[in-house]
Amino acid sequence: MPKMVFIERDGTRKEVDAPLGLSVLEIAHRHGVDIEGACEGSLACSTCHVIVDPSWYGKLAKATEDEEDMLDLAFDLQETSRLGCQLIMTEALDGLTVKLPAGSRNAGG
Ligand code: FES
Repeated sequence: MPKMVFIERDGTRKEVDAPLGLSVLEIAHRHGVDIEGACEGSLACSTCHVIVDPSWYGKLAKATEDEEDMLDLAFDLQETSRLGCQLIMTEALDGLTVKLPAGSRNAGG
């Protein structure tokens, strides 16, 4: 089973099982990682924002225009920001590392 790593807001590394075909958002939810995902993957929010480790960013499928548009609204936007619900686990992404952003607009601080 592939793995992925979440870096939590306090810097804790959390390595978890990452079943193929699940999104990073779904994987986070399975393991109690604090990513909201308010619209459950329908590209209508930016609360599933994650910051991809730069060494992994180039291996991801490119963001669609709709994803880019939602990302523009994300808090703490970085060069390697993506929406977690759009990142689908594949063999090639075994070891994928993403960081949680400093906060989201819906988190109330
Ligand atoms: S969960 Fe809303 S865009 Fe990803």
